[in-house]
Amino acid sequence: MRIRYLKNTESILGESELIIRDPAAQKGMWRALGPGASPGRLCLEIGCGKGRFIRDMSRKYPQDLWIGAEKISTILARAVKQLDPEIDHNVFLIRQEAGKLGDCFEEGEIDRIYLNFSDPWPKEKHAKRRLTSERFLPLYRRLLSAKGEIRLKTDNDALFAYSLLSLAQGGFRVEEQTDDLHHSPWAKENVMTEYEENFTRMGKAIHYLRAVPI
Ligand SMILES: C[S@@+](CC[C@H](N)C(=O)[O-])C[C@H]1O[C@@H](n2cnc3c(N)ncnc32)[C@H](O)[C@@H]1O
Repeated sequence: MRIRYLKNTESILGESELIIRDPAAQKGMWRALGPGASPGRLCLEIGCGKGRFIRDMSRKYPQDLWIGAEKISTILARAVKQLDPEIDHNVFLIRQEAGKLGDCFEEGEIDRIYLNFSDPWPKEKHAKRRLTSERFLPLYRRLLSAKGEIRLKTDNDALFAYSLLSLAQGGFRVEEQTDDLHHSPWAKENVMTEYEENFTRMGKAIHYLRAVPI
């Protein structure tokens, strides 16, 4: 992603009520943030980028609670700008590195993890940085609830093949899978991410999978 620094990043992050500035203090208590007395699923997008997906999903599924985690402040500030605190009562953002999510969420607290167009890290020496590597899967297993699942989308053939293998080795079962999401049974309910829109415009097919812990 090309990162253009937003001059007022710190004030955007400091002032927005959609940013949870101390996510560790929320550990085990996210559901108290709503929406309503008993929210539906707790959904986490890791690497939410500029926030288009989480904005559109939280509006489509208002009964669920949506958290976007992003490691880069200036990108997170752009996500804040996509959201409207008057409308978006069921979505929160955190500046957090994926590997530290165990500090912020209790075991079994998350129902869905979305990995959308995660950085592919093509060099073998960087394989552990891939968000579906053996470094992250045990963490996801711990944080996911009994009915929990991972949903992944990517344009990247190598990352998709790697993720299928890594998930199988890491104790997950793939229940849905396609190499062309937009011409699949899951196309109708699909909500596009920013990257997905760009890759689709370039004529690339999108890989998709849904995996559950076994
Ligand atoms: C290629 S972009 C995709 C953005 C968005 N999900 C989409 O589909 O449009 C990947 C995003 O993940 C973030 N990211 C990468 N590694 C991360 C990590 N370990 N923890 C948190 N965020 C990460 C990057 O900063 C970037 O914003």
